[in-house]
Amino acid sequence: TSVATGDARFYPPFLPIEPTRADTMTVPAGYRWQVLAPWGEEFTEDGRRIGFNHDFIGYFPADMLEGGQSSTDAYLTINHEYVNPLFLGTEERTQENMEKEKRAMGVSVVRVTKDGQEWKVVKDAKNRAVDGLYDIELTGPVRGTAPVKGATMVKGTVGNCSGGQTPWGTLLTCEENVDGYTKAWEGSGYEAMHQGWVTEIDPFDPEWTPKKRTGMGRFRHENAAVIPAKDGRIVAYMGDDMQDSCVYKFVSKGAYNPANRTANRDLLAEGDLYVANFGNGTWVLLDYAKNKKLQEAKKDDKPLFTSQADVLADARAAALAVGGTPVDRPEDIEIHPRNNDVYIALTNNSKHGNYFGQIVKLTEEGSDHLATTFKWDVFAYGGPKSGFASPDNLVFDPYGNLWMVTDNSDLGTNPIKEFHGNNAMFFFPTEGPNAGKAYRFAVGPVEAEMTGPTWSPDGKTLFVSIQHPGEDSESLNKLTSNFAAAPGSNIPRPTLVAIEGFPGWKA
Ligand code: FEO
Ligand code: CA
Ligand code: CA
Ligand code: CA
Repeated sequence: TSVATGDARFYPPFLPIEPTRADTMTVPAGYRWQVLAPWGEEFTEDGRRIGFNHDFIGYFPADMLEGGQSSTDAYLTINHEYVNPLFLGTEERTQENMEKEKRAMGVSVVRVTKDGQEWKVVKDAKNRAVDGLYDIELTGPVRGTAPVKGATMVKGTVGNCSGGQTPWGTLLTCEENVDGYTKAWEGSGYEAMHQGWVTEIDPFDPEWTPKKRTGMGRFRHENAAVIPAKDGRIVAYMGDDMQDSCVYKFVSKGAYNPANRTANRDLLAEGDLYVANFGNGTWVLLDYAKNKKLQEAKKDDKPLFTSQADVLADARAAALAVGGTPVDRPEDIEIHPRNNDVYIALTNNSKHGNYFGQIVKLTEEGSDHLATTFKWDVFAYGGPKSGFASPDNLVFDPYGNLWMVTDNSDLGTNPIKEFHGNNAMFFFPTEGPNAGKAYRFAVGPVEAEMTGPTWSPDGKTLFVSIQHPGEDSESLNKLTSNFAAAPGSNIPRPTLVAIEGFPGWKA
């Protein structure tokens, strides 16, 4: 019997494919894909173009504020994580080139519609680029304090990796590798301390100034997995994607009110930040006033922190000072839709010889997101036996199946190449006879990473970003990929792909 006809909780809805090194998207029989919103495509009335290196994709049904959930008309938010100066033509460090790079990062808000079988970009008045130069407000305890040089407004959002969506229809875009730009953009007015936060953007309201939520801490923000707790307070699970760094949980002070969208947009300004201690299964509160370890923490005989603003601005140091457990690079985190378990991709850690990574499952006490104790277990190990390595972005389907994309970049001569092929997307049942087994669904083009997967509400379209195809090209004469090149060009383009052929969710 075909695996494609089994119970949706236990079997994949496709016939798994083999690894490949082909410079294209490879999907199972019966599925098809199209390029959507590639780098450089004009998408606003005033001629703005889609940014580079697409990552997290937010799907906001165009009729969401009227209670709808259209699967054919939406605002997509596309994170643009970083740029490739070779492909942008910005290798020389001029002011003009540095500005061009900042304009190609941040978030594109793009209306898309499905016309018959084909998705296309629509030049809607709400389309815009919340880029590396956009005016953004700092909110929360660090606003106006010394670590940010007293700033209340800052320039731009950059390093936009993964993210999350709130129940009230806003995007949380997560600023990840932001310290690397201090040197690359020297003399351009770049302030690294104004980056490295979670930024909230309202795709439906261009007039609303985006907000950096400093209460959620500053680190290499990978993602924010958002869910209302039993009492309506908003919980966000977040990873700090660095070797030997931690997993965090933010709990808002106020509760979500489905009837008051305007009030909800202030919810993430205030709350408590916790770090995970995997040794004893506890969430440790990062609160300067309440935690002696933070008050007494010293470096070179000087206090590490003198205020809550200091704690949040260097949340990594604070986390380690209170016993947060350093783990093997937390990438994406997602919450199981049927049982509230929290799945964490620990991608790899070359420092410990962990080349293949693993996916960890965290179960809160009583499955309550407000709990301060938890249990955890390894859900799946990467390696030759499972067929995947370096788990990165995750997304669930409503049956509780986990879909995961790999990121085997920057790994030099490690043994992954012997079994993996190009970066791929895998499907895992989380219950039943095949729980934890990896089924290969798709393989990306050469030197690309698939990122940001998200579903249309009906489950018939899967949107995936194709990030950094041909990344190791040494020059424009030695391109390693031509994926999604524009007509008349051979330079590969980061892009979304829309994958069709899914049966859709059944009741
Ligand atoms: Fe941008 Fe940690 O991936
Ligand atoms: Ca990632
Ligand atoms: Ca995700
Ligand atoms: Ca990664």
